[in-house]
Amino acid sequence: MLRAADINGDSVTGILAGWAGLLEGRFREIKFADFEDAIGSGGTMLTTSRTNPLKKERGLEIIEANMEKAGIDALIAVGGDDTLGVAAKLAERGVKVIGIPKTIDNDLAGTDYSFGFFTAVDEATKLIESLATTGRSHERVMVVEVMGRDAGWIASFAGLAAGANMVIVPEFKTGLDEVVALVMARQKAGRKSAVIVVAEGVDLGYKGDIEKDEFGHALVAKAEGESNASFLARYIERKTGAETRATVLGHTIRGTQPNSYDRVMATKLGFSAMEAAHAGRHGMMVAVRGTQIVEVPLAEGSRKKFLDKETWRVAKSFFA
Ligand code: F6P
Repeated sequence: MLRAADINGDSVTGILAGWAGLLEGRFREIKFADFEDAIGSGGTMLTTSRTNPLKKERGLEIIEANMEKAGIDALIAVGGDDTLGVAAKLAERGVKVIGIPKTIDNDLAGTDYSFGFFTAVDEATKLIESLATTGRSHERVMVVEVMGRDAGWIASFAGLAAGANMVIVPEFKTGLDEVVALVMARQKAGRKSAVIVVAEGVDLGYKGDIEKDEFGHALVAKAEGESNASFLARYIERKTGAETRATVLGHTIRGTQPNSYDRVMATKLGFSAMEAAHAGRHGMMVAVRGTQIVEVPLAEGSRKKFLDKETWRVAKSFFA
């Protein structure tokens, strides 16, 4: 964002705690020193929240007023479908806003990839491989749960990359009988260990009501009680007799040091967002299409994107 200052003489204001910061007027001036080692850091120095302005009385109006008070000409919103969905609503009201796709879930329709995704996949891959090693040593079935509230992008990519024996995602149904059959087939072939990756958002049919956030999304990563991993592990052990262990990777795969692809992608997206704002192309989301950065309308780009059939077909062909 500081290229905006160099190139265009802009002053850059950081908004703290996501939409909560804009509702409450919590800003932070951004200085060059803030960025000295930012490229290699995970998370956000601005902090974030799950506040939904659409759930607050006159939320969007308050945001507009606070932007005006702070002298903000253009807003760059960085986030997933929730953040960018609100940005799209602001754009409808004529607010000058550009979106940047950022979610480890990679579930935004307008972009091939959102930054954070491949770093999370790298981290999950490494951890799944460690679990596979210990699983082989102890001849155990290892069930690993990864984030992915509505989509199986992380589960399928990390599962493929780590050579998992099976991946279970929300988009394509896998029956418990299929899981049991796979473990038993491996036992029959003398391979007692197996690695099964399951996305947190998969509905295995045992969960009751889960608390929802202000955007109406189930807080699966916060849910008390049984996880998908522990439910499956117990089920497998009972049905097959295989010694089984469950691990929930949860938040451990978020906030780690970004990989080079994510660093470059985030930099290019930020640069394009700055250019779009200066060119007056508001209401757009900058996005990755192949090796190019493109712009798509926020309302379209911020919709949900689910795991594609082709990735699933390839992933499935390795189940064994
Ligand atoms: O939306 C991204 C995500 O990482 C989901 O995969 C996960 O369910 C959720 O965030 C966790 O949210 P929180 O950090 O609020 O627990």
